[in-house]
Amino acid sequence: MEVSPSILTCDFSNLKNDLEDIKNLVKYIHIDVMDGDFVPNLTFGPKFVKDFRGYCPQNIFDVHLMISNPLKYIKNFAEAGSDIITFHVESKSPVQETIKEIKSYGKLAGLSIKPKTEVSAIKDYLADLDLVLVMSVEPGFGGQKFMPNAVDKIKELYDLRKKNGYNYLIEVDGGVNDETVKLCKDAGIDIVVAGSYVMNAENRKERIDNLLK
Ligand code: DX5
Ligand code: ZN
Repeated sequence: MEVSPSILTCDFSNLKNDLEDIKNLVKYIHIDVMDGDFVPNLTFGPKFVKDFRGYCPQNIFDVHLMISNPLKYIKNFAEAGSDIITFHVESKSPVQETIKEIKSYGKLAGLSIKPKTEVSAIKDYLADLDLVLVMSVEPGFGGQKFMPNAVDKIKELYDLRKKNGYNYLIEVDGGVNDETVKLCKDAGIDIVVAGSYVMNAENRKERIDNLLK
């Protein structure tokens, strides 16, 4: 299992130091892109990805688009240096076309489901995906409480992958800590996003180790 720290709850004026602190401890870095429309919050654009790309050349940039029209911005985020681009099935973009667009830039394509969306909503796309992101909080903000219905979805995705020979990684996002991570591990998770639990801690290495234990 891998940990993908989310920088959302960091003090953005100190972000370079925060990344310096973790970039050699983890493979992935989770970047939450919000447009103030798909979710009631605004964060980073492609320029942010581009600027930090050079600073963390070894890390896999795990870019989570919580935006209404992801198709419109795939090119920008791909060219900025994203490695994985994940968008939401609940967005307004055509799903198949958006997956194709992400892959056309040689990037890994991820699809995410919000807490109220069932796995069945994405079943037609599973064969084409590199990653499925299960939201365990309503997207928009860090520091929320883990919603346990995510665990059944992880299990379902794990079983579907096994049964059909699919290749996607299974990632969970929201409210992950040293307790909730256990439920995700038992269900077959590959990557856990951890925002506040890791990034808002004094000793981040210890928190990452706790999740990997
Ligand atoms: C929420 C974001 C998450 C968030 C997780 O919309 O997608 O990535 O940063 O933060 P924690 O781990 O604090 O719930
Ligand atoms: Zn996220």
